[in-house]
Amino acid sequence: MESIKVALLGTGVAGGGTFRVLARNQEEITRRAGRGIEISVVGARDPERARTVVGGKVRIESDLLLAATDPAVEIVVELIGGQERARELVLAAIAAGKHVVTANKALLANHGNEIFAAAQAQGVMVAFEAAVAGGIPIIKALREGLSGNRIEWIAGIINGTSNFILSEMREKGLPFAAALAAAKDRGYAEADPSFDIEGIDAAHKLSILSAIAFGIPMQFQKVYTEGITGLTAQDLRYAEELGYRIKLLGIARRNPAGIEMRVHPTLIPKRRLIANVEGVMNAVLVSGDAVGATLYYGAGAGAEPTASAVVADLVDVTRLHTADPENRVPHLAFQPDSLAATPILPMSEVETSYYLRLKVADQPGVLADITRILADRSISIEAFLQKEPNAGDAQVDIVLLTHKTQEKNVDAAIASIEALATVLGQATRIRLEALS
Ligand code: HSE
Repeated sequence: MESIKVALLGTGVAGGGTFRVLARNQEEITRRAGRGIEISVVGARDPERARTVVGGKVRIESDLLLAATDPAVEIVVELIGGQERARELVLAAIAAGKHVVTANKALLANHGNEIFAAAQAQGVMVAFEAAVAGGIPIIKALREGLSGNRIEWIAGIINGTSNFILSEMREKGLPFAAALAAAKDRGYAEADPSFDIEGIDAAHKLSILSAIAFGIPMQFQKVYTEGITGLTAQDLRYAEELGYRIKLLGIARRNPAGIEMRVHPTLIPKRRLIANVEGVMNAVLVSGDAVGATLYYGAGAGAEPTASAVVADLVDVTRLHTADPENRVPHLAFQPDSLAATPILPMSEVETSYYLRLKVADQPGVLADITRILADRSISIEAFLQKEPNAGDAQVDIVLLTHKTQEKNVDAAIASIEALATVLGQATRIRLEALS
């Protein structure tokens, strides 16, 4: 059978890796897909640079729109990143009847609903395994492997850069700024590192996972997002002393009133496997009603891990190309006319446990005032840690772990605690999940 023709847009890290993996594993991939997968045109803004990546044989087109709509091509692989240009190219490819494979999480989080609707109308596929957790086949696990389950919750380390920063801070006692510099030195951080450290990249990925897990539209704007910039090495150390590790988690949970979608630093018990995921690695825990908790671990970024996911999508699309469009796996795993309008819960309604660190005057009655404020809001204390003051110091750090309560109760308690004359500065609040 004739090879299926592919346009590759972008020859950066992911594009170069995809080209290389397809070439290296050509024979194996052909055996799996049932026919060859051939990159027949490469779209690149800088053709000279692209030539050094893809060699002398393949056609390079500097007009990416021409490559995306090339009549000979059946699949367009979008690996240019960014949003506006990528959106135009993907929509143009779909309008021209091409299937699309993309690794672009920001594009899908912001424009996914529009793109999937266009693809549905055209009867083409949009595959995006590489958009979440790089080489880990988490999209496939949710869409297919776990499709017999009612998904209960997901908790993932889905931004490698911030996980690397937290590992450096914990292992080497580095302050945040030094750990960020180390991430930049190694080329981990995104071009705009705020996407990594402010939790935006993780929120993009969480909105994609939530849509697939719960059968809801993409709703990135409703993800509560808090990054790691406020964390100190001291908080990581105190958490450790209490038996916890702090990770930037993306959490999506179904509860009776709606769906929680949140990204924030989270204390998790050290004994959980996911607490021991270090450096740039990613891991996603998925709990389904039938299977229980399952854990997926691997490289969340990098040329070949990303290529692994892109090429898997190419194989999938190639296999399904001839199938009746009505019988393909739907883009968001659920049939488009049965997406649910379940509300996304505001953060104030979310119920979880908390780590609170306070700097207080070392004098009688301080603790009594604080515990009274917590008790008045029915917030129960699970653990307590008081550090000895440094010699001559009249201030001490205290750390409290609470039982579960609603976020709005903790907001109110923190406001009252910070108003006490004996409490110095702002309270540090980090959420805690048992993940059991
Ligand atoms: N900046 C991302 C990360 C790359 O650190 O995980 C993969 O999306």
